[in-house]
Amino acid sequence: MPRYLTEKQVTAFQRDGFLVVPDFVSEEHCLALRERAMQLAEQHVPSPEQATIFTADGKPLHAGDDYFLSSGEAIRCFFEKDAFDAAGHLRDDAHLCLNKLGHAMHDLDPVFDSFSRTPQLAAVASDIGMIEPLLLQSMYIFKQPRIGGEVTCHTDHTYLWTEPRSVVGFWFAIDDATTENGCMWALPGGHRLPVRERSRLNEARTSTVTDVLVAEPYPLDSLACLEAKRGTLVLLDGAVPHLSAANNSDKPRHAYTIHAIDGVASYLDDNWLQRPTLPMRGFAPSTTSRVTSATQN
Ligand code: FE2
Repeated sequence: MPRYLTEKQVTAFQRDGFLVVPDFVSEEHCLALRERAMQLAEQHVPSPEQATIFTADGKPLHAGDDYFLSSGEAIRCFFEKDAFDAAGHLRDDAHLCLNKLGHAMHDLDPVFDSFSRTPQLAAVASDIGMIEPLLLQSMYIFKQPRIGGEVTCHTDHTYLWTEPRSVVGFWFAIDDATTENGCMWALPGGHRLPVRERSRLNEARTSTVTDVLVAEPYPLDSLACLEAKRGTLVLLDGAVPHLSAANNSDKPRHAYTIHAIDGVASYLDDNWLQRPTLPMRGFAPSTTSRVTSATQN
């Protein structure tokens, strides 16, 4: 496998638990993905009554909702909690009030599939030591102007647990992400701290519960600011604590994330995201026929 990252970049990723790689994707490809995401949002937006509100500020309003729990094999839309006024009406057109799309665009939509599977991404996964990378979930995060919500400090391993730990986030800035519009922040070296929580399905598999493994919160006094220009790739170790502030600006902050796990690790069957009918695949580019047939199912 040809390398993409330098030795120095791999060392920085291992030391910090994150790595910012500018100019990874062209402006053209970012804008094509952005346009496709807006189309999917219009096509798939549910009525507000059916909708799941997605909040990552510690209040799991979506927990227990089958629309969310079965979204690992679908393209679903999740609203921002601040998208609704006091009377419960949407403040704007429904597709402009979304928090995110999730969680299988990379397998079900040809534009997302080709963005998510490239020789460069395969090389990066190999460079950081992934043996059999498998694309578990994708999220298109809108972080809309003024209503884009805060994402509180968390690790991705909390939600996508493997034994041993293997999840890696591949986060792409589709718009410029700055301190003004809610860029990410991460704790350098925080991936060496014990993971504080595990979120999993309850016994009835109807909602999620959180096991607190370490009560002490993460130290947040030395966070690194991960400002990122459009086209930047940010790699996140599954155990590195990270967060983003609300977007109170008038600028959108679109981002796309893939979470990949290693096929040599065990993915636990009480993780919220299950894909009983949609096998995971790696970073190798797809054939057109495979994507077309998945889209039709
Ligand atoms: Fe995350």
